[in-house]
Amino acid sequence: VGEQRSFVPHLFDAIAGRYDAMNWLMTAGLWGVWHAAFRRQAPVARGVRVLDVGCGTGELARLLLRMTGPAGHVTGVDLSAGMLAVARRKLARFGDRVTLVEGDALALPFADASFDVAASAFVLRNVADPDRMLAEMARVVRPGGHVVTMELSHPPAPWVRRLFWAYFRRVPAWLGGRPYAWLPASLQAFPPAEELARRFCAAGLAEVRFVRLTAGIVCIHLGRRPGLPPSVRLY
Ligand SMILES: C[S@@+](CC[C@H](N)C(=O)[O-])C[C@H]1O[C@@H](n2cnc3c(N)ncnc32)[C@H](O)[C@@H]1O
Repeated sequence: VGEQRSFVPHLFDAIAGRYDAMNWLMTAGLWGVWHAAFRRQAPVARGVRVLDVGCGTGELARLLLRMTGPAGHVTGVDLSAGMLAVARRKLARFGDRVTLVEGDALALPFADASFDVAASAFVLRNVADPDRMLAEMARVVRPGGHVVTMELSHPPAPWVRRLFWAYFRRVPAWLGGRPYAWLPASLQAFPPAEELARRFCAAGLAEVRFVRLTAGIVCIHLGRRPGLPPSVRLY
């Protein structure tokens, strides 16, 4: 855990300046399709408080700011100072509707039940202990609040899987250099969608479901923290 914690921020510091361009290039524009799907699927209402775990350069946070509107608030947390610096520049125009914090997804620097929604995109695969990250996300949302993640996954159809891996093993490292060689290894060790759904349940989340995008290359997982706060319990 310690080793991964120290090398991951360095890896992302090193690529922060080209991270956004690389995403569009590597995914041939599918990046935008996945964000549009996130917008349709994620239960993020206007005016709510959202946490973006591993916010990186602020791509998802920007989408969340559009979804929550002028009365909403988005907090982004990330271990990499370099990625946060890009996010800070990109999100400056949203003023005090956004807060960016340096912190660890495995020990979120927030009190229990601080947010209505905890969201995260393409981070679970990078952390040493995904179960702990999910438990942390479940802890910081209020009872009745939502946890939603978007992450690369394992396409169920064998021929898609073969094509995807033929691409994924070589092309990102070829386009992006050594830091991108980490990508295939991080996915290989990551559970398939059904197993990740079980991990959501193990983190104490209810109403767990997932949606496959682009033949299962990417998956959105959703869960809800059970219970309602006493103030809204009627009897
Ligand atoms: C692939 S990027 C995703 C960034 C962003 N969510 C997006 O969708 O573009 C992964 C991010 O997770 C961050 N990260 C990795 N491990 C972390 C941890 N333990 N705590 C907080 N952030 C972490 C990295 O610094 C990086 O910014």
